[in-house]
Amino acid sequence: MKTIQTIRELQGILAEEQGKIVGLVPTMGYLHQGHISLIERAVQECDRVVVSIFVNPLQFAPNEDLKRYPRDLKRDLRLAKEAGADLVFCPEINEMYPAKPRTTVSVTELTHRLCGASRPGHFDGVATVVSKLFHIVMPNRAYFGLKDAQQVAVIQQMVNDLNFPVEIVPCPIVREEDGLAMSSRNIYLSPEERKKAVILYQTLCEATKQKESGQLIHASQAADFIRKKLEVISGLSVDYVEVLSYPGLAPVQELGQQTSIAAVAVWLGNTRLIDNVIWSSE
Ligand code: PAJ
Repeated sequence: MKTIQTIRELQGILAEEQGKIVGLVPTMGYLHQGHISLIERAVQECDRVVVSIFVNPLQFAPNEDLKRYPRDLKRDLRLAKEAGADLVFCPEINEMYPAKPRTTVSVTELTHRLCGASRPGHFDGVATVVSKLFHIVMPNRAYFGLKDAQQVAVIQQMVNDLNFPVEIVPCPIVREEDGLAMSSRNIYLSPEERKKAVILYQTLCEATKQKESGQLIHASQAADFIRKKLEVISGLSVDYVEVLSYPGLAPVQELGQQTSIAAVAVWLGNTRLIDNVIWSSE
């Protein structure tokens, strides 16, 4: 496995590999099993796998955790190698942004709700850096986790709208044994918060059961059910609970008519956690 820091070197290597199926796994590092599952899937389906590790300042608001975002490049390189990656692209900030970009990519509508509403500008930062990575690597396929289901919808929309010649491959959420969705940010949780964090997935599973047994019929009922279960946990504050169509992220009335997503974001102390389940139409 090769570690590369410059765009020029990466493009030089990829130019020699024309005709090969290239898979890209974009990450911000501090790799965990969720990231690894994407790399392993890419290794299965592609001839060459590029993993990018770049904590993208453009997608963090000034009050967010850019400075304290966890980093451990040495460990990441070992894990990426074990997972079968061929190239790790880990540029310095100046390599990606020699100056503040005057051109950015902004996906409308899909970004107005959920994390887009709580984190204004976040998805512009994501869409811009992912566009840059697509142009730099020119992958045939790019792998994204449904842990960030809105991100998948936004990137797919961008690819459709701007004709990027890349196939987006959405991958399932990888969870800890107790159900907590893996996230680089879980490391911020105190032991007490970590215990409480299981409530997210537990509640989403309960709602799924209630929906399946016909006790939750409307999207608003399902959202209320989830919100009430979360709100009673001390030290937890709900950022949003929404049940929307997926991937369109539009309001839905009755469940079961179309594929929908139950998505939650909460604060546990200073840590923001997100999770979701996707309910396919009947
Ligand atoms: P990051 O949070 O590092 O996540 C990188 C990829 O791993 C994303 O596609 C994310 O959805 C996926 N992922 C994270 N946790 C997962 C889990 N528990 N199960 C499955 N997949 C998981 O998402 C980003 O970085 C950035 O926004 C990025 C796309 C790299 C742009 O900067």
